[in-house]
Amino acid sequence: MLAKRIPVQDLRPGMYIHKLGGSWLKHPFLRGSFLLTDPADIRAIMEAGIREVWIKSTAGCPRPEGRSEAPPDAPEAPALTGMSPPVETCDSTSPMASEVARAKDICLSAKGQIVEMFNEARLGKAIDPNATLPLVDEIASSIERHPIALLSVARLKTHDDYTYLHSVAVCALMLSLARQLRLSEEHTRLAGIGGLMHDLGKAAMPLDVLNKPGKLTDAEFEIMKGHPAAGAELLRAGGAAPEVQEIALYHHEKMNGQGYPHGLAGNEIPLLARMGAICDVYDAVTSQRAYKEPWNPAGAMRQMASWDGHFDKVLFNAFVKSVGIYPVGSLVRLASQRLAVVTEPGQDSLLRPTVRVFFSLLDNEPIPMHLLDLGAPCCEDSIIGPEDENRWHFRHLDDMCLWLK
Ligand SMILES: [Fe+2]
Repeated sequence: MLAKRIPVQDLRPGMYIHKLGGSWLKHPFLRGSFLLTDPADIRAIMEAGIREVWIKSTAGCPRPEGRSEAPPDAPEAPALTGMSPPVETCDSTSPMASEVARAKDICLSAKGQIVEMFNEARLGKAIDPNATLPLVDEIASSIERHPIALLSVARLKTHDDYTYLHSVAVCALMLSLARQLRLSEEHTRLAGIGGLMHDLGKAAMPLDVLNKPGKLTDAEFEIMKGHPAAGAELLRAGGAAPEVQEIALYHHEKMNGQGYPHGLAGNEIPLLARMGAICDVYDAVTSQRAYKEPWNPAGAMRQMASWDGHFDKVLFNAFVKSVGIYPVGSLVRLASQRLAVVTEPGQDSLLRPTVRVFFSLLDNEPIPMHLLDLGAPCCEDSIIGPEDENRWHFRHLDDMCLWLK
């Protein structure tokens, strides 16, 4: 399709600008080609002194973004103390946004149930694992409707919410992984129940150690190492399936035999427990804790992939497929030297999710936020890699990834 040159007076929203006349350094747009959607942009083009533009047909062509010719070694921006909140409003009609609302309700009702379960366990009462089935089914249905919404909500836990939302998150991650592995209905459900109850044994741990805000001493850590066996015993007493007991008992084992409580290695560790180890660690490291900042989800994926001997590699690869190389909520650096947050997994490629672009590294300042589908055929931008969010201290990344006000 050849570009057609027209005077700026003939520009209308909906036209695809292929090139702006004059030097791009002088105009206010990040790149010279883009889909014209805002009449204010026409005024800005005129005010920049541009007289002519080249346009192309927009048929079937999503908005291209980014400036892929940007130098990869652009100067580092200094840490910021914060930035403006998102300017876009919540699109309650998007599948993600509507499921996020339902997922919040599920997490809220889960809180009561899980807190009660832990309280009863603390009192020495037997826990009936079947009582959690409706909740596990609700979590499974949410994942069925949208694979990422509930995970995105459960990831945003505060220190106070950690125990119960960690249970919900591990349950959801286990269900996603079980689906990815095409496990039977029965085993998928057992994986979900085991995910929800994997840390039940913490109810048997001394409260001063369990609730200690800082890092544990070696002696305290030795005490906490008792929680897998304590949890498995509580579940056995309540009549839980052996697979659910095994998730509780073995979720801290490692493939190289250096885990606990029994130092099992490789396939000595039951399948669902090997899955539990991956889901438990991923949610723990990407969550805010009293003694540490959360890891960027994409950075966590990289780190975990580099831990030789810790996880079952085949299962870990399936886990990456179920959650994404750049999971929702990841802060990423684009080839156009902009920062963005991942909002939806890629449809066709794990490397090309949809992102919300919000910061220019070249100008070292926020830019108007907008969504960018990196998998769109006409998109010229791409992800260079995960960005360490602790270096930046942006305050609204989570709102951005959930597309909330
Ligand atoms: Fe644990």
